[in-house]
Amino acid sequence: MSLENEAVRPDGGADDLIGIGFGPANLALAIAVDDHNRAAAEPPLRVNFLEQQAGFGWHRGMLLDGATMQVSFLKDLATQRDPRSRFTFLTYLQEHGRLADFINLKTFYPTRLEFHDYFEWCAAEFADRVGYGRTVTGIRPVTGPDGRTEQVEVVSEALGGGARQVHPARNIAIGTGLTPRLPDGVQAGPHLWHTSELLLRAPELAKQTLRHRRIAVVGAGQSAAEAVEYLHRAFPEAEICAVLSRYGYSPADDSPFANRIFDPSAVDEFHAAPETARQTLLTQHANTNYSVVDGELIEALYRTAYQEKVAGRERLRVLNATRLTGAEETVDGARAHVRSLTTGRELALECDAVVLATGYTHVDPRRLLGERLAAACRTDGQGRLRVERDHRVLTDESLDVGLYLQGGTEHTHGITSSLLSTLAVRSGEIRDSMLLRRTARDLRARVAVG
Ligand code: FDA
Repeated sequence: MSLENEAVRPDGGADDLIGIGFGPANLALAIAVDDHNRAAAEPPLRVNFLEQQAGFGWHRGMLLDGATMQVSFLKDLATQRDPRSRFTFLTYLQEHGRLADFINLKTFYPTRLEFHDYFEWCAAEFADRVGYGRTVTGIRPVTGPDGRTEQVEVVSEALGGGARQVHPARNIAIGTGLTPRLPDGVQAGPHLWHTSELLLRAPELAKQTLRHRRIAVVGAGQSAAEAVEYLHRAFPEAEICAVLSRYGYSPADDSPFANRIFDPSAVDEFHAAPETARQTLLTQHANTNYSVVDGELIEALYRTAYQEKVAGRERLRVLNATRLTGAEETVDGARAHVRSLTTGRELALECDAVVLATGYTHVDPRRLLGERLAAACRTDGQGRLRVERDHRVLTDESLDVGLYLQGGTEHTHGITSSLLSTLAVRSGEIRDSMLLRRTARDLRARVAVG
């Protein structure tokens, strides 16, 4: 990526699009644009990306050995948009000499490690279009004398400080993903951390003497169950204490009719539906994604707990119907305060580590957009951004810049908003919307000259 420390690029032009964040969502967009640029006769779209990590990485802290994808490999970054794209998972397998071997596995669900490798293989193709190690800190409008804004400047800072850079663009795609959520009032620390850090923190813990021989994992979703399973394996001397407010882990609904909620066509229906219907659908199908666990993992955990009961040494301890009421660092570990929902009994668990599998939250993109751009965005009755079917924020007429959202649009586009399921198709839609807007702009310019 060509990066300049000045507002104006040497060639004086703005990019067609700057993508903010280079996770799977904006990677899929890079692919959709690349597929178009190679095939189309019209001038290529010029897109670049800014990513705060030093290199490509997809939830590295949770790349647990053996953990599998929750979506079919056919929901890769290209297939559903164009199965002939050179960026499909099948092409990746072919290039790595594993196509026949994978077929023999008879599964739709590769490991997360393998899918990460597939993502990295795709990302390597775009290394010259990504500014790694750069955090976007703001976006500001470039307003002409007529009061219209046709470009923005994306401001980024290098990891560990350094020069601020400014990147002019006609469109932006915000793909900054979700942020780990901690329970209210809980401060993370060396022995008190979110599951997103599991593979960074657990090896450090393994080097220390465990004073309490206990690790607590708080939460009832997929990451919680995976963390319990992993820690139980990795720390054979420790009690692994699963704290969950539910009575037990509940299975994810991945049955075929319910699964249609993740289809690209479901996004059409959801976007066109009235607000009450959208709310109903989100509530009814929350159990396809939120606070649920893969059925096989639940069975495996239960088997472990039962076998330990038989053997008389129960290392996997499930504190069900129990809520975390507080947690803090101690001199030699961390303490979790819990209360049983059924008996009201309170307990302070002295632990070597307390792991918070308490989910992720979405950060409002208006934080990046800043006051002036945010003021141009239209909102609904609940103050949420109004987002068009083509994933563009609806703005007032003074702003002629495409502000595309890759995620954070569950209220307008449904449950797939922050997932992988429709990334291939969504990226094609954003690309096509940019192309349409470019054609309209060129036409306007020609009319103005003529
Ligand atoms: P993602 O969070 O992956 O990427 C956002 C990127 O933006 C990051 O690289 C971040 O560093 C960068 N960034 C953020 N702020 C920035 C800034 N200001 N400047 C520059 N860069 C910035 N879903 C699914 O459909 N199937 C699955 O199997 C799974 N599995 C899964 C496992 C685990 C452990 C987790 C935590 C989540 C999943 N998910 C999932 C859901 C997950 O949200 C999804 O897989 C993708 O990560 C979504 O991709 P995005 O690119 O939107 O976000």
